Amino acid sequence: MRVSVHPTAEAAAESAAATIAALAARGGLRVLGVATGSSPTPVYRALARRRDELPELQFPDLTLFALDEYLGLPPGHPESYRSVVERDAAGPLGISPDRVHLPSGADPAAYDLAIARHGGVDVQILGIGRNGHIGFNEPGSSFDSRTRVVDLDPSTRLANARFFSGVDEVPSQAVTQGIGTILEARILMLFAFGAEKAEAVAAALEGPVTERVPASALRAHPDVHWVLDDAAASRLSRSGRIEP
Ligand code: GLP
Repeated sequence: MRVSVHPTAEAAAESAAATIAALAARGGLRVLGVATGSSPTPVYRALARRRDELPELQFPDLTLFALDEYLGLPPGHPESYRSVVERDAAGPLGISPDRVHLPSGADPAAYDLAIARHGGVDVQILGIGRNGHIGFNEPGSSFDSRTRVVDLDPSTRLANARFFSGVDEVPSQAVTQGIGTILEARILMLFAFGAEKAEAVAAALEGPVTERVPASALRAHPDVHWVLDDAAASRLSRSGRIEP
């Protein structure tokens, strides 16, 4: 496990983009697992800048698998995760929409099979919810869960209300990769920025490994990189910090 702590989200994103670009340059990035939310967007922007500057770094053959999707939004809704992934990740990276996969509530199990058919996820980008969720795996999710339909925690709907006109507009269900699915990616990179994530980060990294804190499951993964800013790392003990 690597934990890197940076002065700002932008600095963290640049450092992570350099790692991802180096992997891509070595031919080790065919499938990228993408998260939505505000934390990963600086990383997609930093990767897109590198692509603009380096003609040898292009991603036409990259396939994207999203972590999760809301249920019940009309097709094309700007806050559906298909729209968000196309706008924030696929577009800037020059990846055509037909290479962007999202799970379907009608057949969640098909998603795990599709990931396997593509050879598995090389790098999975993750954020973390204030309650420690990853994807939409809320506290109590089993560590061996697979892609499935879930009910959203009221606190998650409240946290995500900022993307909608109000909390009532936030769907109450979603389909998410399971924790077991996420743990199968070869490399995990979790991004957390801001003081509001500090408690969840400390609980996941230094508290007990427990289904009450879904992100604590990552401690069992052999290649996981926690990319934090100072505020998100502020509740970690000094011994838990490894500077970049
Ligand atoms: C949503 C997403 C998660 C994301 C979380 C945190 O609930 N389903 O994948 O990690 O929000 O989002 P943010 O990075 O905006 O704080």
